[in-house]
Amino acid sequence: MPTMRAVVVDTPGDPDQLTIRDIERPEPKPHEVRIRVQATALNRADTYQRRGHYPPPEGAPDTLGLEAAGTIDAVGTDVIDWAPGDRVCALLPGGGYAEYAVAHAGHVLPVPNGIDWIQAAAFPEVFLTAYQALHWLANLNEGETVLIHAGASGVGTAATQIARLHDAIVIATASAPKHDICREAGAQHTIDYENEDFAERVPAITEHGADVVIDFVGAPYFNRNIEVMATDGRLVQLATMGGSTVNDMSLRALMAKRIHMHASTLRSRSDAYKTRLVQVVRAVLDGYWEAGRIAPVIDSVMDWTRVAEAHRRMEANANAGKIVLQVEA
Ligand SMILES: NC(=O)c1ccc[n+]([C@@H]2O[C@H](COP(=O)([O-])OP(=O)(O)OC[C@H]3O[C@@H](n4cnc5c(N)ncnc54)[C@H](OP(=O)(O)O)[C@@H]3O)[C@@H](O)[C@H]2O)c1
Repeated sequence: MPTMRAVVVDTPGDPDQLTIRDIERPEPKPHEVRIRVQATALNRADTYQRRGHYPPPEGAPDTLGLEAAGTIDAVGTDVIDWAPGDRVCALLPGGGYAEYAVAHAGHVLPVPNGIDWIQAAAFPEVFLTAYQALHWLANLNEGETVLIHAGASGVGTAATQIARLHDAIVIATASAPKHDICREAGAQHTIDYENEDFAERVPAITEHGADVVIDFVGAPYFNRNIEVMATDGRLVQLATMGGSTVNDMSLRALMAKRIHMHASTLRSRSDAYKTRLVQVVRAVLDGYWEAGRIAPVIDSVMDWTRVAEAHRRMEANANAGKIVLQVEA
């Protein structure tokens, strides 16, 4: 049985549990392609999964890694759109931290000309998540005001860039050292959430309030998010990094402003949903990506043998943008 090297979690726990070992090389099913991985990128979910708190969905590989870039080396019998040798990146249900990863053929994107493996590996998860949040869930209209929390995160920097393509006004919250990153991504206003209260700053920036809020922090922000939102505002909850139980929540406050709330995880969506999302993102964003109008913000690039250090960096909130692991030297 052919083998490959992959990052394995010995026992769920701290980053030292991550080691590179030989495991069985995956074979593509009829609707899948196999990618010879050049680079993969970290997502917060990898750190939760490593700790044993975020099990992979049914049928997904145990190996960490929600995205990867590389060259297709094998295609399943039903695949007609891709061929060995194609340069691609892909959204994965898992398995990206490995020399080979299999992807649903509908979850694969071509790597535009001039884009390297580092950029390609960092693109799928954050841009697909951010596009879905802003356009499919929040129905962002041109010129609206968007409040993006964790503005220097991988998803936050992607959301800022996509919102700016729509001439939105972006207000980003982040710790002070990361404000330059938020501004480079396109945010016109930044709030240092550790020393300022966004519930005071947002009304000072816009009397009308935020039309859209993209939130990853959760419970400690919920009531203040509603407070700073415009009538008919849309709140998209993508994570609960600060806690998930909201006390003293007033449904009346939501009704008074006719707030729409969406809560979502991309990983749990159906294959058909992800295929549609990939098609739309390819059609809408590929040209901007190739032209350099959007690009994943890269925090750091490490050889994959430094995977434990990469996880520590993310868990310490030291990264701004994506941490990329190079799998091929
Ligand atoms: N629902 C979905 O479909 C979906 C998809 C992808 C990702 N996600 C989630 O979205 C979140 C962001 O992911 P990512 O990979 O982009 O993260 P990331 O690049 O690691 O950035 C996260 C940043 O959030 C800030 N932060 C952390 N805890 C915070 C808290 N309690 N209060 C305020 N700010 C806090 C930190 O920056 P500062 O220095 O500014 O504090 C940290 O660096 C993760 O929780 C991830 O699991 C959800």
